[in-house]
Amino acid sequence: MEAMKKKSEKNKERALKVLAIVASARKKGVVASLAAGVLKGAEEVGAETETINLYDYDLRYCRGCWACERKNRCVLDDDFGEIFEKVLEADILILAAPVYWSNVPGIMKTFFDRQCGLAVNHGEGKTVFGMRVPLGFNTEESVAGKKIVLVAACTAPWPFNILLDESRGALRAMKNYTRKIKGTIAGKIVYTDSRFENVKGKRKRYEKKAYTLGLRVARSGM
Ligand SMILES: Cc1cc2nc3c(=O)[nH]c(=O)nc-3n(C[C@H](O)[C@H](O)[C@H](O)COP(=O)(O)O)c2cc1C
Repeated sequence: MEAMKKKSEKNKERALKVLAIVASARKKGVVASLAAGVLKGAEEVGAETETINLYDYDLRYCRGCWACERKNRCVLDDDFGEIFEKVLEADILILAAPVYWSNVPGIMKTFFDRQCGLAVNHGEGKTVFGMRVPLGFNTEESVAGKKIVLVAACTAPWPFNILLDESRGALRAMKNYTRKIKGTIAGKIVYTDSRFENVKGKRKRYEKKAYTLGLRVARSGM
């Protein structure tokens, strides 16, 4: 409670920070433009915004050494520390990923993996019927409580994006991350049938939707 109070007092002192994490190397692709649309809406109501395109950074695979749990930092020498600092500062995160093999692209998965021992810890576990059970993870207070906006794009048309687990697979991965960092999904945009991405001005319509979502989410986070 005290932590929440401190957090909201801190938020009153500064502009709302909205950070887009984009996992597509196509800078003019669908998810990059929809993430930009959400940011534009947030800027309209005074939020401070930034985009991290993961492909612009040196981001190595997690080695599973768990040194981060002991040292509270990752021992790999790359750009992850810089990215994670921005994640911690953000009030709202936009996770923007194209669907690759019914999941998020590897680079987004690496972004999640690298936070494992920093955003959450194994905690004490519980004793159930005399057995020690490592029940779930504890989320670090520094990362908890963010609003998350999900953006996904796939070539599968509706309803196959859902029935065949295409966009659903990628959304599930991003929702699991959100749950584990104790975030709240504030909205989502899924762009289907992207091979025919501009039929009847569909892209423009979705950019407008993204803008409206950005306005709404940022307003509610002020
Ligand atoms: C390696 C790779 C794997 C893909 N796998 C899928 C898939 O499993 N299902 C699907 O519907 N689309 C798949 N796609 C298509 C992309 O999701 C689609 O083109 C998306 O709109 C790309 O978004 P972007 O323009 O923001 O990069 C794949 C594309 C690539 C390059």
